[in-house]
Amino acid sequence: MPEKGPRPPRPPEKDPLLPTPRTLGAGPERGPSRDGATRTLSGQVALVTGASTGIGRHLVEGLAARGMAVAGMARSEHRLVAAMSEVGEATGARTLAVGADVTDRAAVTAAVERVVAELGQVDLLVNNAGLIDAAEEPLWEADPEQWWDVVSSHVRGGFLLCRTVVPWMVLRNRGRIVNIASGMSVRARPEYSAYSVAKTGLMRLTEALAGALEGSDVRAFDVSPGVVDSPMTRSMPMWRGFEDWTPPERVVELITAIAAGELDPWSGRLLRAGADDLDTLRSLTPQDAARQLRLRPYGDGDPLA
Ligand SMILES: NC(=O)c1ccc[n+]([C@@H]2O[C@H](COP(=O)([O-])OP(=O)(O)OC[C@H]3O[C@@H](n4cnc5c(N)ncnc54)[C@H](OP(=O)(O)O)[C@@H]3O)[C@@H](O)[C@H]2O)c1
Repeated sequence: MPEKGPRPPRPPEKDPLLPTPRTLGAGPERGPSRDGATRTLSGQVALVTGASTGIGRHLVEGLAARGMAVAGMARSEHRLVAAMSEVGEATGARTLAVGADVTDRAAVTAAVERVVAELGQVDLLVNNAGLIDAAEEPLWEADPEQWWDVVSSHVRGGFLLCRTVVPWMVLRNRGRIVNIASGMSVRARPEYSAYSVAKTGLMRLTEALAGALEGSDVRAFDVSPGVVDSPMTRSMPMWRGFEDWTPPERVVELITAIAAGELDPWSGRLLRAGADDLDTLRSLTPQDAARQLRLRPYGDGDPLA
């Protein structure tokens, strides 16, 4: 039996929208990082979607401060360019703004090509961009277009980014993908039906991706950021008056540990910033379907157990 490994990426010439490999080769040397992490991120390249504000903006700053070259993607180019140049100035890191809608296949392909050409192959992809339901209402009252835009921003967006970036990670046999999850990835809220569907779909995407990557050194994770003060949470009536925000630095630390390869056994599983203890995660190897989406049986006799 041949050893089980990831399916090779589709040859680029069969799909003109996929980029051609430019800077394939060995990755940077690894050593201790500023966080006390066991490996440095210096010289590595990150691509963060939804980078212009909120969690994405915190992430690009945190990753750049740890020595990564960081590309940020968002639709509103003006705000994105300002954010990425502020981060570049504050950290001295190489930053790049690539304006694109994550749901636009051609735009995503062109943006990733630019990232590879200007910064190099992507070591860390963070699928962070996405929308939230415009109002708290049952699904039959939701505007169908906005409902699908929400689902599409997370699921189609995550899919398109993975489809464009992951084949090159597989070719280099290195890379990590983080899909930003939510409490609603694992439990629907009736008044946020689109977002619940979107975040659960994205979590399934992570599991399917991690499964397909088994046997390789490319890994995929779900990271729930907790409740971070951002334009999104400020727009949600359910968080009105809320004050116990998750410090964004907790999200940065968790994703830094993932990028440094410290949490690789958790590939295909959900981690939660602000609740999970990093040392505990580092010391554990998850078993069975721990931290994965599963149907809970009604009891011992449940035929679906
Ligand atoms: N904040 C929280 O407490 C929390 C909790 C759980 C999960 N999350 C998740 O964490 C991620 C970031 O949340 P946030 O609170 O920082 O959100 P946010 O403040 O609304 O920021 C969203 C970012 O995504 C970009 N974006 C939205 N749709 C896009 C698209 N189609 N293509 C490209 N970029 C797009 C936005 O810029 P443009 O509008 O210019 O495109 C912006 O940069 C989201 O996936 C969210 O679901 C957040």
